[in-house]
Parts: sequence; structure tokens; C-alpha cells
Amino acid sequence: MALNIVIMAAGKGTRMNSRHPKVLHKLAGRSLLQRVLDTAATLQAERIITVTGHGADEVEAGVTAPRLRFVRQVLQLGTGHAVQQAVPALPDEGTTLILNGDVPLIQAATLRTLVQACAGRHLALLTIVLPDPTGYGRIVRDGQAVRAVVEHKDASPAQRAIAEVYTGVMAAPTALLKRWLANLKNDNVQGEYYLTDVVALAVADGAPITATAAANETEVLGINSPLQLAQLERRFQRQLAETLMHAGVRLADPARFDVRGELSAGRDVEIDVNCVFEGRVQLGDNVRVGANCCIRNASIAADVLIQPFTHIDGEALGVKVGAGSSIGPFARLRPGADLAQDVHIGNFVEVKNSTLARGAKANHLAYLGDASVGERVNYGAGSITANYDGANKHRTVIGADVHVGSNCVLVAPVTIGAGATIGAGSTVTQNAPAGELTLVRAKQVTIEGWKRPTKKK
Ligand code: UD1
Ligand code: MG
Repeated sequence: MALNIVIMAAGKGTRMNSRHPKVLHKLAGRSLLQRVLDTAATLQAERIITVTGHGADEVEAGVTAPRLRFVRQVLQLGTGHAVQQAVPALPDEGTTLILNGDVPLIQAATLRTLVQACAGRHLALLTIVLPDPTGYGRIVRDGQAVRAVVEHKDASPAQRAIAEVYTGVMAAPTALLKRWLANLKNDNVQGEYYLTDVVALAVADGAPITATAAANETEVLGINSPLQLAQLERRFQRQLAETLMHAGVRLADPARFDVRGELSAGRDVEIDVNCVFEGRVQLGDNVRVGANCCIRNASIAADVLIQPFTHIDGEALGVKVGAGSSIGPFARLRPGADLAQDVHIGNFVEVKNSTLARGAKANHLAYLGDASVGERVNYGAGSITANYDGANKHRTVIGADVHVGSNCVLVAPVTIGAGATIGAGSTVTQNAPAGELTLVRAKQVTIEGWKRPTKKK
């Protein structure tokens, strides 16, 4: 049976107090609407129709999904009116699943259950019992049978005592839904066309109605304010933290841990407080991450020690750190940093688009950009590759077992032969031969009997 999905995302989100549309605000690194779309995309729907209105251009440019199309709701006259805008884009048969763009953690399994409950002929409502149902539409029953959904503002005191609420998600037979939508009225407290009024219309039609309970509260929580966004973020992070801890990862404090993407971890991984993982991050067995590290798009092999305050950002190219390496504290690995086994990168060292072979070390205050560094190289404190001539980038090649003294400038393109030693303070502009000491600096002189100037009286 053909499934179509309608996502309502036209509302203003006034309480976000933001210049940007509410549904583009991010939860764990992905926008609210993109999360809903990613879940919707797993349901193999014919089409995903997103209703946009406030900030429509920005919303439409800000999200993607297969078989996605947009319809606009220029004036926001209510949720029923929002779905009416999608009617011309819906076929006449099959099932329509209606979602909210600001309920980001709805689970695909719950939606599948709801679509099955609809079975092309029931009006299937996703409901939940809440300790505090204030603000929600209440599920009004007559015995077991659902008779209506009454909005909080329109509800009588007796109806407000009902704890079972409508979550904003429903699945309906498309042909019937179209008929009910055409009959909505706005004679209610808010003067809006309520989608929830289709329930009473279904009752009047004698159509069967089912209420399916959501799996948990988290999946149906909507976002209306920065506070709710932060609260849902914490719930979500807590779930991720618990999943990782069940798999054996030792988090110093699950409340001070953030994943904004996908983190995979091997056995006996330890993560200290305040670490942020973004994009795709893989941590091998026995990796230890010190406090206050940010790691994005990186693959960290087994037995690596990442010391506190290290910043690793692979952007699109990625970063690789080989087994047994030690990084930081206060190190920075940038896109294309590709480190083999047992590499040491110390404090205030930046590495970008460079390969470091096994056992290479840059322990203090250094820059390696566009460089190939051989095995066991020792790269001295304060040394840099001058890789940019103001217009183009050039490579520096450093052979195995080279010793670069402190405070050297290697002006690229330049090659340092294997086993060479570069004396401290050298500015190297020509290739240095293998195995020899190369010095590029003035000879030290001593002026005998020289006197310091004295102050004139
Ligand atoms: C709605 C339900 C309520 C339910 C609650 C669950 C109605 C009438 N009420 O109430 O029963 O308990 O969700 O969270 O449906 N939107 C548009 N165009 C509009 C109006 C809204 O696209 O003209 C979008 C909003 O951006 C939002 C969604 O529809 O994503 C829900 O609208 P909202 O105003 O939040 O409905 P509630 O009052 O919360
Ligand atoms: Mg709402």
C-alpha cells in the first residue's frame, strides 16, 4: 500500500526568539527537520511532502531527503490548514503519515507500527500518557472508543484532567483524510483549522479509529524554546552515553559528554569529562581521551593517548592517528593529518595535510603543513614548514631519521635527505643532503672588550 508522508514545518517558532526558522535549529549537530526527514526516509514512502511557511527559502535550502518536495503554506491558519496545502500533492489512495518538523527524535519503528495500525483504513493516532498534559490535545474516549481530540484551550475542566494526549503524529487513509480536511472549520478558541478535528469527522463517518502508544516520552517531545531544545539535547546525549557505557566505554561523567554525529569505540576506551565528538569518529581499543578534547571526522587506532585540550578536526579529508601514538596536551590535528604508529605530537603543535611515518616526533610548539615526514624523525621545538608562498602551497619532504633542530624554517618546496641534521635556527631554502649537518645561520662571534653604553648625565 502506497505510503506518503507529510511533515508540518511552516510555524514560526516565536518562542525560539531567533532570526532562523525553528526547524533549522540543531539537536546533536543535525537540524530538527533534517532528523525527522532522515527517519522518514527509512520508511520507503512514495513522497515526503514538507509544508514550509515561515523562513521557507531558508528551510527548503537547509534540508535534503530522497523523494522530498515542498509545498508552501503562506498564512499559518492551523495544522489542518497546513495539511490541506499538501492535498494536491497526495494521490487518492494509500496511507498518509503526518509528522511534525519540530519533534526530532520520533523513532522509525514507532512510525512503522502506526502505519500498520492504519492498514489503509483506520485513522491511527499516536498517543502518550503524560504526567502533565498541559497544552496538548486530549484523547476523549467513550468507553474504549476514541471519540475526539480536544485542544487544551478548548477543553472543559473534566477533559483537561485526561492524561492521554495526542502526540501530533497520525496515519490516515488518504482518500478519507482528503474528505475530512475539506470539512474542517475554524470555530474554536484559536480560530484555527485544527488537524485534530479530523477525529470527530472520522467518528461521524463511522470510520475506525485506533490509538497507538508511543514507545517513550523522549520520541514525542516537541521543541518550542531554547530551554526545551537544551533539555531534549541532554536526554538524547544521556541515551547515547548509556548505549556506549553498556558497550563497555568508560565515561568519567555521562552528563559531561557530547556526540554530534557518530562515535564508535572499541574495548576499554576511556573518555574524560567535557569531550565533544562530531561527524564520524572511530576510537580503537584502549584509546584514552583526556578532558576537554574536541574530535571531528577522525579515526584513532588502538592504544592511542589523546591528552587534555587536544583539538582534532578532519573536516572533509579526515584525520588518522596510528596505533600507540600520543597526542597533546594542547595539540591541533587538521584535515589530512595522517599519522602512523607510535607518533608523538606534543603541546602547541599543529599538523595539516601531512603524513608522519612510524615513530616520528614533534613535541613542542611546531607546525607541519603539506609535509611528508619519515620514520623516527625528530622535529624540534619551534620549527615550521613555510608551505605557502602567498599564492600556492608547496610540499616539504623530510627523510627518515632526520633531526630538525629548534626554531628552524623549512621553506617549501624543499627536501631534507634521510639522516640529515638541520642546525637550530636555520632557514632552509635549498635541499639538504642526506646524512650531513646543514646549518643556515650566521657564525657566532665574540667582540672582546665591548662595553655596554651607559646613560649620559
Ligand atoms: C498540536 C496538536 C495537539 C497535540 C500537539 C502535540 C493540533 C490542532 N493540535 O498542537 O493536539 O497535542 O500538537 O505536540 O494539531 N504548523 C504549521 N502550520 C500551521 C500551524 C502549525 O505548519 O498553520 C506546524 C508547526 O510548525 C508545528 C506543527 O505544525 O511543527 C504543530 O503545530 P503547533 O502549533 O505546535 O501545534 P500545537 O498547538 O502544539
Ligand atoms: Mg507544538
